[in-house]
Amino acid sequence: MKNTELLNDLNNYMKNFRSEDTVSTKKSKYKYSLKSVAFTYGSTPQETFQSLLNNLKIKPKRLVVVGSSIGWINFYWNELYPNIETIGIDIHSFRVNFAKKMVDKFNLKNITFSETSFYDFEFSEGDLIWQSNLCFNGKDVCNANEDLLKKTPKVSIISYRPISKNKEHRKYITPHYYPVSWMEKQSFYIYEKI
Ligand SMILES: C[S@@+](CC[C@H](N)C(=O)[O-])C[C@H]1O[C@@H](n2cnc3c(N)ncnc32)[C@H](O)[C@@H]1O
Repeated sequence: MKNTELLNDLNNYMKNFRSEDTVSTKKSKYKYSLKSVAFTYGSTPQETFQSLLNNLKIKPKRLVVVGSSIGWINFYWNELYPNIETIGIDIHSFRVNFAKKMVDKFNLKNITFSETSFYDFEFSEGDLIWQSNLCFNGKDVCNANEDLLKKTPKVSIISYRPISKNKEHRKYITPHYYPVSWMEKQSFYIYEKI
């Protein structure tokens, strides 16, 4: 990232705010419906983000990051494509608020964060949806994506988990493997209907 001050703030999040992050996890209104693993913290390198984008053929109208945490993916995107809106959604209030503070601190445009669950968010045609969903329930992810693709078929998806069991959708899904902070070859799935 060119904005090295922002990069430092993101890198130092766990060092500076670990206890607040843990308290927020315990206090979450979603804590009863989600296992604690849903709040596991990990990061995806910018090179992996860029490699995944290089596989896409459709230019999106907006990037929605599901499970955006402190906003890494949104901030990478905003630096590369400042004119294409990006929104991050996450159910962890402290992480969402930290991301919002970074937007204010660096006076960034076209980038917002919202404390919203994947299962409640209204997606739009033309969205590229980045799903940081490793910690989500696999069956729930497939069911939610099947509904999503029924309502808004003209979206693209990048997901850490398999996207759909539906044969019609699987025609448009390709697997990819790139490094993340927790393993060398993380599987990713791209849905793009060309
Ligand atoms: C492990 S983090 C994402 C890290 C990401 N893999 C990366 O490399 O940067 C996953 C995030 O998903 C969030 N999350 C869990 N369930 C969610 C849901 N239903 N909707 C939105 N976000 C959710 C958690 O709060 C957490 O911040």
